[in-house]
Amino acid sequence: MLLSSAFAALALALSQVRQASAHGGVLNYNIGGTMYKGFTPYNTPVGQISIQREWDTYDPITNPTSGTIPCNTNGANLGANQLSATVAAGSKVIAYWNPWPHTIGPVMVYMAKCPSSCTSATPSSLSWFKIDQAGLISGTLTSGTWAMGQLVSNNNSWTSTIPASLPAGEYMIRHELLALHTSNQPQFYPECAQLKVTGGGSSSPSSSYLVKFPGAYSTSDPGVTIDIYSQPTVTTYKIPGPAVWKG
Ligand SMILES: *[C@@H]1O[C@H](CO)[C@@H](O)[C@H](O)[C@H]1NC(C)=O
Repeated sequence: MLLSSAFAALALALSQVRQASAHGGVLNYNIGGTMYKGFTPYNTPVGQISIQREWDTYDPITNPTSGTIPCNTNGANLGANQLSATVAAGSKVIAYWNPWPHTIGPVMVYMAKCPSSCTSATPSSLSWFKIDQAGLISGTLTSGTWAMGQLVSNNNSWTSTIPASLPAGEYMIRHELLALHTSNQPQFYPECAQLKVTGGGSSSPSSSYLVKFPGAYSTSDPGVTIDIYSQPTVTTYKIPGPAVWKG
């Protein structure tokens, strides 16, 4: 009994060390005022019920063209346990991360219309548009304030608004952090969740706003492979991907 609880404590401690030394992702959402629990990584997907797609590791994706860039590793749907949050267009979505260890880099939020049900959709085949982004807020690349730092100061959370003119229907929402604290080695942390948008309008993003994952980014993008430490006087940062579609 004592031995088994000692083992349990050790296993818990090890998993916490592993998660702390790795990085993380979106654990919970507040969608239009309702809290939703995300998928719990490092646990079997069997029996998990969530609006979030499966993601299995706190580790970053370091290649912007990786097959896991759409919705993290492995981005699978939870079958009958895959939920979607019903929310009116124009509502706020707050994503909550674990205590986030990095403060340098942009925050980006995308949505994509699902052809029918989001549960049966393949994230890499969807056309994604950006609904929100923030990069270098003030100061220089080397020592300025970044959106990721604001996220950390704001209870490890980020608030976005679903465009009010978006047509009703099923959408995927994709939150992504791009950590830039390691010179010339980007770290991407995407997670996806499913929404059923109600109300809304009839405005849709034109093709210039739409991207695929992988496809939206390349290693040679100036905002992807960057050495922030060698640019102590530069006060601009080019966030990768398309322009934000405001509806
Ligand atoms: C801080 O984040 C947690 C989720 O990680 C949330 O439950 C809590 O309500 C948040 N606190 C505030 C003041 O927003």
